[in-house]
Amino acid sequence: MAFKTIIVENEDHIALIKLNRPDALNALNATLLTELSQALVEADKNSKVRCIVLTGSEKAFAAGADITEMADKTFVDAFGGDLFSEFPNKFLRVRKPIIAAVSGYALGGGCELAMMCDIIIASDTAKFGQPEINLGVMAGLGGTQRLTRFVGKSKAMDMNLTGRFMDAEEAERSGLVSRVVPAKKLMSEAMATAAKIAEKSALATMAVKESVNRSYESSLNEGLLFERRVFHSLFATEDQAEGMAAFMEKREPQFRDK
Ligand code: HXC
Repeated sequence: MAFKTIIVENEDHIALIKLNRPDALNALNATLLTELSQALVEADKNSKVRCIVLTGSEKAFAAGADITEMADKTFVDAFGGDLFSEFPNKFLRVRKPIIAAVSGYALGGGCELAMMCDIIIASDTAKFGQPEINLGVMAGLGGTQRLTRFVGKSKAMDMNLTGRFMDAEEAERSGLVSRVVPAKKLMSEAMATAAKIAEKSALATMAVKESVNRSYESSLNEGLLFERRVFHSLFATEDQAEGMAAFMEKREPQFRDK
């Protein structure tokens, strides 16, 4: 499918989705959000795809929701139209792992988009922030919720109240990102990580994604029970028998998603 604001490339078992509005630092306008949702739904359906990588440009992952599209909106438009509710609903239904490869600015909706992904790999040039406060508003897509769970209350308040940016080193130290790599190595690291995930049983990787996400949505006991039951259910798969046999036979497993 031809898109205007994103570029999609399928490489082996990886769908690479690149945000592509260079003139606006990949600001998230309505077209981009619609196209991104479509690309994600397609990647999720495509049985060849086993992992998704989402990235931007060297200068910006995404500098936030498109301010020019929001400037004239009224409360009635925002609340009545339930602004930004459709996109996360679609995004969060994707069952395959999504890696955000972040270089440059990940601000406002851009930071929130990265946090909706399953793993964030950052280049040493990455800058994260929730600067909506400078526009007289606040985060609307997880910046007060997911960020607080990642980095704790004090830093989340600091970023949301002052609008200051967090560099890659602080983001890694605070638990926002899983690794920081030199800018030149960002894409090779993200693609290698995706390839590693693509080698696993897709049944098991989907089960991991659902279970880790449960930790945010339930009490510890509920989450632990969910995890244990999903773990039990994987014993119904051929991939479990294959994975464990391969270990004992000292060979690489051949997973078939069965
Ligand atoms: C629309 C944007 C934009 C945005 C940048 N641009 N961010 N357009 N919406 N969020 C445009 C600029 O207007 C400019 O266009 C071009 O991209 C390059 O940006 P510059 O400002 O010239 O670049 P630079 O001086 O390097 O500064 C980079 C920057 C700054 C620090 C990232 O652009 C900035 O502060 N952007 C806004 C960041 C922000 O407030 N984000 C939160 C948005 S609200 P022209 O045509 O002039 O060249 C939000 C709400 C989320 O995300 C709610 C739920 C989704």
